[in-house]
Order: sequence, then C-alpha cells, then structure tokens
Amino acid sequence: MPKAPPKVLLGVTGSIAAYKAAELARLMQKKGWDVWVVMSACATQYIGPLTFRALTGHPVAHGSFAEMEQETYTHLGLSEGAAAMVVAPCSAQTLARLANGFADDVLSCAALSLEAPLLVAPAMNTRMWRNPAVQENVAALKGRGATIIPPGKGELACGDVGEGRLGDLEGIVRAVERRIAAG
Ligand SMILES: Cc1cc2nc3c(=O)[nH]c(=O)nc-3n(C[C@H](O)[C@H](O)[C@H](O)COP(=O)(O)O)c2cc1C
Repeated sequence: MPKAPPKVLLGVTGSIAAYKAAELARLMQKKGWDVWVVMSACATQYIGPLTFRALTGHPVAHGSFAEMEQETYTHLGLSEGAAAMVVAPCSAQTLARLANGFADDVLSCAALSLEAPLLVAPAMNTRMWRNPAVQENVAALKGRGATIIPPGKGELACGDVGEGRLGDLEGIVRAVERRIAAG
C-alpha cells in the first residue's frame, strides 16, 4: 500500500501578509503534502476561505465554533493524524493565544489538540515585534518546543522599514519539512 501523504495544517491569521499564505499552501502541496487550512475569523477579512478551499480541495474551518457548518468536532478532526501545523502568518494576537493556551477559536483549539510539531511564523509591524509582551510569548512557545520562524527585515506593508515581514515562504516550507522528517 502506498504511504499516505503527510497531513499538514496551515493556520492563517489576521495579518496583512495573509495573502502570502495562498502561495505557501501551493508550495506545501508541491512537496506532496495533504494541506488543510484553518483560519482565524479576522484572517477571513484579509483573504477568503474560498481561495484556500479551491487550492487545497478541502473545506476551510474558520472563526469560532458557532460559525462552523462542518462536523461538530472539526478542531479535533483537523489535528488528528497531522504531521505538523504551521501558523503563517501568525499575528501578535494569535501568538498570545497560542502562548497562553487559549482555546477560543477553531485554529487555537486545533493547535491545542495537536500531537505533532507546531511551527509559528510571526508577521507584524517592527514596533509590535519588539514589544516585550510579544517576545515573551515567542519565548514561551519556543520553551514548549514550537519552532519559531523569525520574521524577515525590509519594507513593511505599513510603510515602516525593519523586522516584521513574514519569513520567506521557501524557508517556512523547509522548516516544516525538517520538523516532519525529525518526527
Ligand atoms: C490593515 C491592518 C493590518 C494588520 N496587520 C497585522 C499584522 O501584520 N500582524 C499583526 O500581528 N496584526 C496585524 N493587524 C492587527 C490584527 O489584524 C488584529 O490584532 C487581529 O485581532 C488579529 O486577530 P487574529 O489573530 O485572530 O487573526 C493588522 C490590522 C490592520 C487593520
């Protein structure tokens, strides 16, 4: 029997870089992975779930449970059997959610019920990124074994120049690949 392709969850949150997640989903599929997307409610204001549904061929869970139209235990179904979950872009808000173990939407519940490596690619304004509250959340996640894909430097969508751009997409894919390979 041929081996099933690794299931990889892609969490997309409310960052201006959310549009880049569509290309990321494509790159991950090119690796032969079975990509499932889960979005925060805010992310759907930046890019539509239909884009990811069309790219991945899977329903896209988003927002809170009250909004779910699919199976009742979607968050558990999403994380079950996953080889990895990568949140890219990860907003400061979702970073705080993950660092504190909050479970107030389907994305955070999927992350909490995940029994596989978690990777987080933050993207935000430089001043937000430097804030000690954000850095403490990053450290907390690292301390629990999550891989943080550091943001890159350059021109940001808001016009500022500095650290905070979503890390390059190929680098994110390589990081996921390494974590899957390490088991
Ligand atoms: C135009 C615009 C762009 C934003 N970009 C970012 C961003 O890149 N990173 C970030 O952390 N927050 C950003 N925010 C703020 C988030 O959208 C906000 O914190 C939101 O609550 C995130 O929710 P979520 O983590 O549930 O998706 C932006 C807000 C606006 C209005």
